[in-house]
Amino acid sequence: MTDRPVALVTGATSGIGLAVARQLGRSGHRVFLCARTEQDVKQTVADLADEGLEVDGVAGDVRDGASVASVVRAAVERYGPITVLVNNAGRSGGGVTAEIDDDLWYDIIDTNLNSVFLVTREVLRNGGLAGAEGGRIVNIASTAGKQGVLLGAPYSASKHGVVGFTKALGRELAPSGVTVNAVCPGYVETPMAERVRKGYAAAWQTTEEYVLEQFEAKIPLGRYSTSEEVAGLVGYLASPAAASITAQALNVCGGLGTF
Ligand SMILES: NC(=O)c1ccc[n+]([C@@H]2O[C@H](COP(=O)([O-])OP(=O)(O)OC[C@H]3O[C@@H](n4cnc5c(N)ncnc54)[C@H](OP(=O)(O)O)[C@@H]3O)[C@@H](O)[C@H]2O)c1
Repeated sequence: MTDRPVALVTGATSGIGLAVARQLGRSGHRVFLCARTEQDVKQTVADLADEGLEVDGVAGDVRDGASVASVVRAAVERYGPITVLVNNAGRSGGGVTAEIDDDLWYDIIDTNLNSVFLVTREVLRNGGLAGAEGGRIVNIASTAGKQGVLLGAPYSASKHGVVGFTKALGRELAPSGVTVNAVCPGYVETPMAERVRKGYAAAWQTTEEYVLEQFEAKIPLGRYSTSEEVAGLVGYLASPAAASITAQALNVCGGLGTF
């Protein structure tokens, strides 16, 4: 069993990350995951193991270099060199820009963008991904990484940064055959999506149901995407069939994204 590829998925206890961990586990990867809440990590590992998948994980915070180093060390000790990295951990947040305080701005950039640099660098330096055969990096960005999101300047800025990082690193690693791509979900029904609707309902002084209707009306397919639909593209990008796709930012968004 030692030749099964090893995947590290950040933020895999909920929503898209959880679906990605399950997808990669089902396609034969050994999956190591992290998130900040230890109890959730333990529960997720137990749940996925019950489904017959080879999964383990530790608590870790992708905003913190020392924590990132210990997650990567634990992954390599447990399963060996990492072949697939999925940078998924992220947070929502925003507001009227003139009212955004420093802490919120920096936390969104740290969680969504600086984390992608920290984890990727660590996996390239010490996780075995540099030059790995079949090596893959998939960054979960957003359609907000290509288009501006109303009342979401820090979020949009962070995700545009992820798309830029992806394109540059894709070119840098291309000679080694390691591919680097961003997956850009639109609206996906997850706990984060619920929090986002709550935030807009408060800002617009309306109900979450009204916000949902407004959002769905913008999506050509008329509905949110599912985490499984996002995970499907991640699984494809991680597969041998996707070896010539690199430095791209691909939407899974029901037609919401325009480029
Ligand atoms: N849902 C959408 O509509 C949507 C659309 C476009 C893009 N995205 C992106 O997709 C990704 C996943 O979103 P989601 O909707 O699945 O969110 P979610 O349900 O809130 O899950 C977020 C996951 O990330 C973990 N996490 C958060 N901060 C972390 C940190 N500092 N260190 C380590 N883990 C952390 C969370 O666990 P802990 O809280 O325990 O750490 C959780 O496992 C994010 O990058 C998000 O920006 C989502």
